[in-house]
Amino acid sequence: MAHKTLHSNQKLFTLSLILLSLSLLIFFIFFGSKNNVVNRFKVETDQPNQFFTNPRWFDLIQEESNGDKKIKVGLVNLNDEEVSQYEVHGNGSLVDTVRVHFDRVSKVREWNDFFPVWINEDSNLQPPTCPEIPMPRLEEYWDLSVVVAKVPCDGWTSEAGMRDVFRLQVNLVVANLLVRSGCAKGPDIKREVYAVFIGHCGPMPEIFRCDDLLRKEGDHWVYKPELKRLKQKVLMPPGTCQIAYPFGKTDNARENKLKNRQFNHREAYVTVLHSSDAYVCGAIALAQSIIRTNSTKDLLLLHDEHVSPRSLTGLRTAGWKTRQIERIRSPFAKKGSYNEWNYSKLRIWLLTWYHKVVFIDSDLLVFKNMDWVFHYPQISAAGNDRTLFNSGIMVIEPSLCTFEDLMLKSFKVGSYNGGDQGFLNEVFTWWHRLPNEVNFLKYFDRNHSLDREKIPDDLSAIHYLGLKPWMCYRDYDCNWDIKERQVFASDKAHEKWWQVYDEMAERLKPYCGLSPHMNWRIKKWRRIAKKLSLPDEHWKIGVTDPRQYNLVQ
Ligand SMILES: *[C@@H]1O[C@H](CO)[C@@H](O)[C@H](O)[C@H]1NC(C)=O
Ligand SMILES: *[C@@H]1O[C@H](CO)[C@@H](O)[C@H](O)[C@H]1NC(C)=O
Ligand SMILES: *[C@@H]1O[C@H](CO)[C@@H](O)[C@H](O)[C@H]1NC(C)=O
Ligand SMILES: *[C@@H]1O[C@H](CO)[C@@H](O)[C@H](O)[C@H]1NC(C)=O
Repeated sequence: MAHKTLHSNQKLFTLSLILLSLSLLIFFIFFGSKNNVVNRFKVETDQPNQFFTNPRWFDLIQEESNGDKKIKVGLVNLNDEEVSQYEVHGNGSLVDTVRVHFDRVSKVREWNDFFPVWINEDSNLQPPTCPEIPMPRLEEYWDLSVVVAKVPCDGWTSEAGMRDVFRLQVNLVVANLLVRSGCAKGPDIKREVYAVFIGHCGPMPEIFRCDDLLRKEGDHWVYKPELKRLKQKVLMPPGTCQIAYPFGKTDNARENKLKNRQFNHREAYVTVLHSSDAYVCGAIALAQSIIRTNSTKDLLLLHDEHVSPRSLTGLRTAGWKTRQIERIRSPFAKKGSYNEWNYSKLRIWLLTWYHKVVFIDSDLLVFKNMDWVFHYPQISAAGNDRTLFNSGIMVIEPSLCTFEDLMLKSFKVGSYNGGDQGFLNEVFTWWHRLPNEVNFLKYFDRNHSLDREKIPDDLSAIHYLGLKPWMCYRDYDCNWDIKERQVFASDKAHEKWWQVYDEMAERLKPYCGLSPHMNWRIKKWRRIAKKLSLPDEHWKIGVTDPRQYNLVQ
């Protein structure tokens, strides 16, 4: 009996030992990885057989690259001292490390050099050039599986957008290396490639999407980028110093394949209405204008509860699919201000059933088919001023983690105008320039005032800045009647809007009526313009618009 107890005690003891070892093993696997990757990498090199001492990202990559045992690591932007820390000296037939050499971008180069206010878009002239961002000799690094890069974070704060040329260079070097190595086996056979970024600010989210982040541990960020999207980004010009091409000039075959794909309901034009019915007529005319161009894309309108049921009927009749959202307050806008709820636009990133979305403001009209802009990556847009894009038309790629990131940043990152445009320009500092004719801004400062009645007929879209056409009499652009708004005045653009109106179905026109208040406002401005004897003399024009007699409530 005693013997038997002893025996079972022994068994229990052995079992406990096994359990303890197992727990320890599990503990090491899951918690050991939280240590600094640098040190862990060193440990690994001393004891190549102890798999649980590998850095966690290294494990992850080995797990993912099933079978492909050999791992070649490229090191980017690490100084001599750091290289010795990151270099793997272990079993050469398993891991190989190379240092990637490239010339640093000239220190005199500033962000503005890559993002000029204006470029010459005349295709008859020599295309504008961009300053050089040196790249490594990619043919020497065609077989990497992992690129480890230290990202410069100088001057980085979470409050301000990051406009650092060297940071851009490092990100582009990594992207180019990954694309080169990932596609080295041929156009269809892709090598699995990974990026590890070291630095508290991480890589540029414009190039390395949060969707591709496998893991973040402290200052280390492990990405497995989707090569197709990354390839498109490295084909973009380094800044807005040139017009972007959808796939680079050479990739015609793919472009044609995309062109031939007739109906793609995974892509949509999306607009957002919130807070009132003021832009309903604009959105109706917009839908009609897009349909006129034989677009094959979905039309989706996001609205909050302040858009009336009657308006929604009109919007749906005009061609929009509608979807209700909750509006988003701009954290820095004054209560009751005109842009208090402009961050509602950020909801477009939640439309993840769409592969791509072209956001379009309701005060635009489309005149020429522009479905081709769907070929561009996020964010492609037309220029506004300084280094900034205009958020009236933007190509975006819906993504849940991007939306979450934007919401978090919205409380920290400021906006120069309190609106979404200022905010988005701080988050997406690296953007791609679409030709201005995609989002022709109806804005004529002193230097361009002669252009205001010479609006080309082949524009893709006009952005009706200032007072909206449906808030004026159709006889002339009522921006003329207010001195400060004359920069927005163009009778030619105004007329083009009313041409679309004229082609609308009769049952849609009542949504563009004048309310007594709007009518009263127009008359007031006309009186003031007359009193001031504004020299353009639009206030002298006899009004024939029948809407002035058929006011709607
Ligand atoms: C390196 O690894 C390979 C494959 O696992 C093995 O065959 C070889 O013996 C190792 N060499 C050394 C020096 O450890
Ligand atoms: C749209 O398609 C119709 C019918 O195929 C055609 O007659 C019309 O010219 C097209 N419009 C545009 C703007 O391409
Ligand atoms: C904000 O939204 C309002 C109403 O939709 C619009 O009139 C205004 O231009 C927007 N402001 C900015 C800065 O985007
Ligand atoms: C007009 O052009 C001149 C010279 O190109 C420039 O210096 C000036 O700033 C411009 N004025 C405006 C209002 O843009």
